[in-house]
Amino acid sequence: MKEFIYGLPKVELHLHIEGSLEPELMFELAQRNQVQIPYTSPQAVRDAYQFHNLQSFLDIYYQGANVLIHEQDFFDLTWAYLLRCKEDNVVHTEIFFDPQTHTSRGIAFETVVNGIHRALEQGREALGISSQLIMCFLRHLDEASAFETLAQALPHKDKIIGVGLDSSELGHPPEKFHQVFQQALKEGFLTVAHAGEEGPAQNIDDALVLLGTTRIDHGVRCVEDDDLVTRLIEARVPLTVCPLSNTKLKVFESMAHHNVVDLLRKGMCVTLNSDDPAYFGGYMNDNFMAVAQAHPMSREEVAQFTLNAIEASFISDGEKARLR
Ligand code: ADE
Ligand code: ZN
Repeated sequence: MKEFIYGLPKVELHLHIEGSLEPELMFELAQRNQVQIPYTSPQAVRDAYQFHNLQSFLDIYYQGANVLIHEQDFFDLTWAYLLRCKEDNVVHTEIFFDPQTHTSRGIAFETVVNGIHRALEQGREALGISSQLIMCFLRHLDEASAFETLAQALPHKDKIIGVGLDSSELGHPPEKFHQVFQQALKEGFLTVAHAGEEGPAQNIDDALVLLGTTRIDHGVRCVEDDDLVTRLIEARVPLTVCPLSNTKLKVFESMAHHNVVDLLRKGMCVTLNSDDPAYFGGYMNDNFMAVAQAHPMSREEVAQFTLNAIEASFISDGEKARLR
């Protein structure tokens, strides 16, 4: 099974580029940019990655992003991720970035988007990896800040296919961002949102109805509403599930308790993704392996995760046919 998984072409749809910042690169950038970090070695950074819920992770994750200052830093970060994609046979990836994490520190939106975009272009040419870029609004900030961020994105529509919603789900439901998502839709962006990760199943429904999302990030708490599960299956609404993230952040007690294989067998369009691989201990192959070890599957079932991800991706039908 390991050989099959490693050889399987994979499509990643849920990856925060800031969450791919490995401790070694964090150290390198801290030195290069003269930024103080509260660790003495990359190993000390790894030792600090003990999380008991989403917020305990987010606090450390936003702090890590402080070393990213120049366009070249965003390029280097994205390029390192793409090299890991190549190793894991990821042939297409749709990555998130959090502009507000950087603009709030005085980094220009252009600096961030241009660095990431340049690496994605190089990845297409030199590695044969296709990609799309999605910008996320931080839901712990207010809707006015999201509107500002949307305005900053308008000159970069050629580089950004969609908008998403991430950060602390509890206390920050989809309706808080109803207006800005409606505006984003009018501007021609596709929409996605983290929902039903730590928050209730109702957030999934609200993301679909109020935010016009065409797929849901995480969504694993859909099982708390039988009627919602039926509708997600019938409408082929994709869920971008992140197994190692969910166990590290205690959404599930262990991989044996994870529901993604059950959802797959019910016919839902579930996909496997790495979320923040530098923080959760694994990229795509590791996520596939962890699920397969805890839930023995046939090869056809494992391959269905890739077929679902192709179906759920934001690429043309022609491109989808090429990937299948
Ligand atoms: N930002 C980065 N990773 C996240 C996650 N798993 N949930 C919400 N926001 C995030
Ligand atoms: Zn995420």
